[in-house]
Amino acid sequence: MRLADKVALITGGASGIGRATALLFAREGAAVSVVDLDEAGGQAVAHQIVDEGGRAIFVRCDVSLAADCQRAVQQTVDEWGGLDILFNNAGIIRRATVIDTTEEEWDRVMAVNVKSIFLLSKYAIPVMAQTGGGVIINTASGWGLVGGRRAVSYCASKGAVVNMTRAMALDHGEQNIRVNCICPGDTDTAMLRSEAQQLGESDEDFLAEAAGRPLQRIGKPEDIAQAVLYLASDASSFVTGASLVVDGGGLAG
Ligand SMILES: NC(=O)c1ccc[n+]([C@@H]2O[C@H](COP(=O)([O-])OP(=O)(O)OC[C@H]3O[C@@H](n4cnc5c(N)ncnc54)[C@H](O)[C@@H]3O)[C@@H](O)[C@H]2O)c1
Repeated sequence: MRLADKVALITGGASGIGRATALLFAREGAAVSVVDLDEAGGQAVAHQIVDEGGRAIFVRCDVSLAADCQRAVQQTVDEWGGLDILFNNAGIIRRATVIDTTEEEWDRVMAVNVKSIFLLSKYAIPVMAQTGGGVIINTASGWGLVGGRRAVSYCASKGAVVNMTRAMALDHGEQNIRVNCICPGDTDTAMLRSEAQQLGESDEDFLAEAAGRPLQRIGKPEDIAQAVLYLASDASSFVTGASLVVDGGGLAG
């Protein structure tokens, strides 16, 4: 039980990496707020956790809206009595160049992928500071560290996540709040499959191409969840401001 007595708020908890992390955190003893726009998916994850004997609630929230983020933190504190771990993970992707990206798409990607981290952290950090500290993990991407084709708004957003992680680590170390990010490589989730669709490629071809990396496969959401658990637990007690690449070696060469 590596997260016994901890309280975790996980955005994008209804699907993919967030879902796998919510299930793992609950099995490790955490009480989990599953936060997402997707009500049916989020409720299903919370029910699964409770059915397994764990503790979870679902909170419907659009992470790009300040009032929703404030409410998600408040509901978490009201339900579980505090907040120790914030996993800022909700995200969207638009596969397009500068020419093909509309202003609305640009603004939406930046709002969901970047502004959400600002907002949730703004409301969560004072709660964590009051109780002696906490942990924030942000989901960036391999494309926060290198560029990718036809994904300019996403690459901009994930580069911002990597560097705001460092800035937040500087600002909040004295409050005993560690801030790190994970940089997953291609992982088998709804988002990855939506990329194939946006690019007009078959799932099969797209996934086969994505598997071309040293470990010869794409990631599973559970692979990423294990790395998030490391950053959330005391095993990483001296790690802050870091970007942990979890990508089967994709960025190694
Ligand atoms: N899958 C990959 O290959 C990959 C690689 C690198 C980084 N990532 C990042 O991992 C994170 C999780 O993505 P995933 O692959 O699990 O995708 P996913 O589509 O399975 O899950 C994303 C979740 O975020 C939720 N969400 C979207 N917009 C939201 C909003 N405005 N408010 C609240 N919730 C919202 C969705 O409803 C969904 O449940 C994202 O930040 C993504 O950029 C994914």
